[in-house]
Amino acid sequence: MSKYTVAVVGATGVVGQEIIKTLEQRKFPVKELVCLTSARSEGTRIEFNGKYSISRILDENSFEGVDYALFSAGGSISEKFAPIAVKAGAVVIDNTSHFRMDPSVPLVVPEVNAQAVKKHKGIIANPNCSTAQMVLALKPLHDAAKIKRVVISTYQSVSGAGKEAIKELESQTRHNLQGKPSEAKQFTKDIAFNVIPHIDVFEDNGYTKEEMKMILETQKILEDDTIKLTATTVRVPVFIGHSEALNVELSEELPIEKVRDLLRNMPGVVVMDNPSKNEYPTPKLLAGRDETFVGRIRKDISNPKAIDMWVVSDNLRKGAALNAVQIAEELIK
Ligand SMILES: NC(=O)c1ccc[n+]([C@@H]2O[C@H](COP(=O)([O-])OP(=O)(O)OC[C@H]3O[C@@H](n4cnc5c(N)ncnc54)[C@H](OP(=O)(O)O)[C@@H]3O)[C@@H](O)[C@H]2O)c1
Repeated sequence: MSKYTVAVVGATGVVGQEIIKTLEQRKFPVKELVCLTSARSEGTRIEFNGKYSISRILDENSFEGVDYALFSAGGSISEKFAPIAVKAGAVVIDNTSHFRMDPSVPLVVPEVNAQAVKKHKGIIANPNCSTAQMVLALKPLHDAAKIKRVVISTYQSVSGAGKEAIKELESQTRHNLQGKPSEAKQFTKDIAFNVIPHIDVFEDNGYTKEEMKMILETQKILEDDTIKLTATTVRVPVFIGHSEALNVELSEELPIEKVRDLLRNMPGVVVMDNPSKNEYPTPKLLAGRDETFVGRIRKDISNPKAIDMWVVSDNLRKGAALNAVQIAEELIK
């Protein structure tokens, strides 16, 4: 079997670390792992397959001999270095938002649109974490009864904002419990014991960039810009796992058992929906899992053609690292 040289750009970040773990868990055929970071983390020992890789500073020469470069170090780093990696002969899988809406760059969730991978010209984009889990739940419904409109409310964990955000929730929680003042650095307000209806920057239309990502990326992945979507994205004091309340209006009425069956048969989706036993997905229960879990599936009593559901997934796995590694697996098939 062929083996590949794989570079992870942002190897010390929460997504980078999860990518390295996922490559190992899924036995991706790695010949050499190249760990790239800023000067802050130069020389970090990173364990992979029982050996250590020493991280190096990312620069223009980092991609010689690299087959696949998985980027998760921020949009400006991808903007500058992804074209350099492609020029050096690597295929880039980018976790940042930088290339996602570029018409020449496929935006891929393998269970939904694996075929799009084939159209790549060197760069493939991984969607926003909230989009990835949502399109898994929307795809089978869209195929069965074309979605007209989706109303989205998210409850997103702090790990979606990186390693410093995780530390901030930890330290603010401790300080708040001790009655000490805490400072908000990673978010606009205190995140401990709070919810913040603001993820990424505000745009001129009053939506945040995170909300617009969910809307536009979903239309691109489902290859249908007639689907109407609206979103409110909210940061909550949870470490790992994003939750979403979705109201999905279909073009025809579907029996609720049919909806459940469609979701049950969707690869990557698990239906966890047993209200009589208080069974429904929660992020605390499901952090670390690869699947996207759907519960609270019910008919919208205000609209017979609409479905309400609750979708939970580990944002670091399906929302980032797992999806990126699945794309790499598609490439070597
Ligand atoms: N977290 C998620 O759930 C998620 C999901 C989807 C997409 N993403 C995207 O993935 C990217 C990384 O997110 P994260 O959550 O992993 O952030 P993070 O925990 O803050 O990690 C950032 C990583 O980027 C590296 N880095 C920063 N500046 C750099 C530079 N100038 N040169 C080289 N490396 C640099 C850091 O290295 P040092 O250790 O040297 O600082 C670190 O390894 C972001 O663009 C984010 O939007 C995140």
